[in-house]
Amino acid sequence: MALVTTKEMFKKAYEGKYAIGAFNINNMEIVQGVMRGAKAKNSAVILQCSTGAIKYAGPEYIKAMVEASVKETGVDVALHLDHGPDLDAVKLAIASGFTSVMFDGSHYDYEENVAKTIEVVEYAHSRGVVVEAELGVLAGVEDDVKSDVHVYTDPDQAVDFVKRTGVDSLAIAIGTSHGAFKFAGEAKLRFDILEDIQKKLPGFPIVLHGASAVDAKVVATCNEFGGNIAGSKGIPEDMLRKATSMAVCKINMDTDLRLAMTAAVRKTFGEDPKEFDPRKYLGAGRSAVQKTVEDKIEFVLGSTDSMNK
Ligand code: G3H
Ligand code: 13P
Ligand code: ZN
Repeated sequence: MALVTTKEMFKKAYEGKYAIGAFNINNMEIVQGVMRGAKAKNSAVILQCSTGAIKYAGPEYIKAMVEASVKETGVDVALHLDHGPDLDAVKLAIASGFTSVMFDGSHYDYEENVAKTIEVVEYAHSRGVVVEAELGVLAGVEDDVKSDVHVYTDPDQAVDFVKRTGVDSLAIAIGTSHGAFKFAGEAKLRFDILEDIQKKLPGFPIVLHGASAVDAKVVATCNEFGGNIAGSKGIPEDMLRKATSMAVCKINMDTDLRLAMTAAVRKTFGEDPKEFDPRKYLGAGRSAVQKTVEDKIEFVLGSTDSMNK
């Protein structure tokens, strides 16, 4: 297929009570791992890039790698800007072939977030690109923005925000957070807020950021082969599945791919300290990314065969 926007994907996901996986990409092995995982499950997918990733790989490389992987796999894919900080970042992404952008104004005060989001929506929509925005603040780190506390999304404000800005999807804060250390104690998500938003905005696609599950076995492999990751905790998979049966149409995962790749690379070196062929350890990392994506599609997102639905 080709690069598409998320419009059709989200419509089908909402009706079919599943979600599309949005996986962060930073290099060729991750792009290939995600796309091959999606192909194996015949699932649509979103490849997303933070501004840090665009800076790391270069926009031309991102575009070329994604186009090559679309040619190889035939998977329906949206190329999405993750946590776009301003209109300039959005302009660069659109000029680089992205079909979807996030403008993250969640750290601005409400009226400023509305005004800046409207500017982005006008720019993107006139170029056929869809827009995700964010309301509420996730605890943890988003690029350079850090917050120690959650500011849960207010459902009435979400209605006002969507109506005034014309965004295509909305990321909300219900207790998820970025990174590998999401909960000090018991995992807890505010499904009551999600339910309220769904009632007040029927049919409107909701996005969950910070939704990695942080598999204890993968962390254990990292640690067994020289890593030092302590106290990590992610979102339990049954909670994510519940969210996909509600209004959540896009689930963002980056940490789980980072951990899978790191565990595989560490294991390769740990088992054979003489190894120094990058194709061996990066190849193992790429396979681990693919397997992770396949499992997410099958057991968390429920998007298997969504290319035929
Ligand atoms: O939301 C954050 C994503 O995990 C991207 O992280 O800014 O380090 O690329 P990054
Ligand atoms: P995780 O850190 O939970 O993988 O979340 C990634 C994310 O939300 C990217 O926008
Ligand atoms: Zn995020």
